[in-house]
Amino acid sequence: MALAALALLLLPPLVAASDNRLAQSPPMGWRSWNLFGSNVSQLRIERIMRAMAEREHLVDGVPTSLCDLGYCDVGLDDNWQLCGAYGAEGQLRFHDETGAPIVNTTRFPSLKAMTDLAHSLGLYAGWYGNNCICMETHTEAEKFYRGDVQALRAYGFDSIKLDGCGSQNDLELFDRLIKETPATSGREAVLVENCHWGSREPFAPHFAADGSLWCPWNFYRTSGDVRANYDSVVRNLLTTVDYARRNLSQPGCWAYPDMLEVGVACSEGGDCPGGTLDLGLNAAETRAHFGAWAIVSSPLILSHDVTDPAIAAAVWPVIANKEVIAVNQAWAGHSGSPFFESSEQVLLYTPPEWAYRRRGVLLLVACALCAAVYAFRRLAAARRRRRSTSTAEEEGHELGTLEPKRLVDEGQAIPATAPRLPLRVLLCLAFTAALVAGVAQLVYVWGEETLNPYHSWELLVPAAQYFYKPVRPHGEATAVLLMNHAPTRRDLRLEFAAIPGVLCTRCHVRDLWAHRDLGNFSHAYVASDVESHDAPFLLITPAAV
Ligand SMILES: *[C@@H]1O[C@H](CO)[C@@H](O)[C@H](O)[C@H]1NC(C)=O
Ligand SMILES: *[C@@H]1O[C@H](CO)[C@@H](O)[C@H](O)[C@H]1NC(C)=O
Ligand SMILES: *[C@@H]1O[C@H](CO)[C@@H](O)[C@H](O)[C@H]1NC(C)=O
Ligand SMILES: *[C@@H]1O[C@H](CO)[C@@H](O)[C@H](O)[C@H]1NC(C)=O
Repeated sequence: MALAALALLLLPPLVAASDNRLAQSPPMGWRSWNLFGSNVSQLRIERIMRAMAEREHLVDGVPTSLCDLGYCDVGLDDNWQLCGAYGAEGQLRFHDETGAPIVNTTRFPSLKAMTDLAHSLGLYAGWYGNNCICMETHTEAEKFYRGDVQALRAYGFDSIKLDGCGSQNDLELFDRLIKETPATSGREAVLVENCHWGSREPFAPHFAADGSLWCPWNFYRTSGDVRANYDSVVRNLLTTVDYARRNLSQPGCWAYPDMLEVGVACSEGGDCPGGTLDLGLNAAETRAHFGAWAIVSSPLILSHDVTDPAIAAAVWPVIANKEVIAVNQAWAGHSGSPFFESSEQVLLYTPPEWAYRRRGVLLLVACALCAAVYAFRRLAAARRRRRSTSTAEEEGHELGTLEPKRLVDEGQAIPATAPRLPLRVLLCLAFTAALVAGVAQLVYVWGEETLNPYHSWELLVPAAQYFYKPVRPHGEATAVLLMNHAPTRRDLRLEFAAIPGVLCTRCHVRDLWAHRDLGNFSHAYVASDVESHDAPFLLITPAAV
């Protein structure tokens, strides 16, 4: 005992995931990319900021702003920079030779005025670095990191999202410099988002040999960009599962499957980053999306147009659900993950390119068949001609010359007479057209798959998938989200014994969407007639015996 205690004392202390003390619960806020894409400006961000602080809607009869609910971190994404050629060799794209970033002051006349506004509204202001638009390849030197952090402090930003596009990917260096550089206004600690898409190193935290979590940021992207459609939402959601199971998503260091697409929708041909992949979620899908982000302890970062009264009103009941937010913000040792998956699977999405691929392949197969038949008949005819010539030679000259007509009859594949020529030309044209069309379709598919950053592959998922998250320890309260990925209505049966950590056999079930107690149930609860892509959100507590 004493030895064990001594050993514990001698071990280095366990450090909290991120030692800036921020993000003890998942961060909440708003960011610009999904709504504005590259078309961002100070004016637009300031309008969003005002709306985030406005008490326009009610919660339990009380006028409440989004920031009152916790959505206080308002950030801008890419395209604040003045793209150009800087530095002695003109190799820098938006930094000068000293390492300072260069702002497009037409779009952003004063970043400091923008963060001042945020602070006056009780908000935090977020910035964005290691940009994708005019991405840089010559900024590995420390002076560029230093220049960015000095600018961050001078402009008074409280948080920063660091993308994975440029060459400034050293997040430990950013972390050190931020801590070394005092704030001029705003928060002393800076909330850092690692936006390396789950693929650009470093993107994941890990446990060090001493048991501490190496995580020099506050939340990290586990996926590529999310789009406003159910397939993309589920695809991104599932990227958090492995991190949750390894306890790599926890206070100070949260796994993040990207922003919320709640209330984001794009008309066909509209000005949104994902184009037709951003056509939006229906009411059931919106609920399921928000519930899923909540139950896996994802940061809740809104991205819809909060200044549009119709959109704001439509999504308010979902994003202002305090019980669901409370599940997201709770911590009882596990960040939330699936515990049940039906054996039946459903294809959630067939990428539109599949139709093109099928058509392209069919056309090329048809062309190949035609060519084969043509070649075969030509060969056969040539052989027959050769044979009849040689037979004629062998049998002497009595037969005389063969009539051309006989040749034609025998070798039908090569009609040699004038009236059949147009048909041949037509066939030849049809063949060429099919060949060109087939190749074009396949080239299109190749382009979509390799060049379109938002391209998605087909996704096979369980028809029913249930997530859980302990809200209080020892099975005292556990949240459960029953996701119906199927294209049809389903009854979803929940066995209490299957939920990790739940000990009650007679349990109390509360519907968190409806704020309604459903009653006490023995062994199981059945959510009946659940809409396609909907997700009942339940809180399970022990019922009195
Ligand atoms: C950018 O936003 C402005 C203001 O809403 C709009 O007038 C303009 O058409 C947008 N530009 C593009 C390229 O979408
Ligand atoms: C700067 O912003 C203005 C206004 O949006 C835009 O027209 C211009 O192209 C931007 N300049 C650069 C270099 O990005
Ligand atoms: C995960 O890590 C957190 C913080 O270090 C700890 O409190 C929790 O007990 C761990 N959970 C599991 C299941 O190991
Ligand atoms: C169900 O259990 C709760 C919590 O223990 C208890 O307060 C309530 O009276 C029970 N309700 C019914 C209808 O049995």
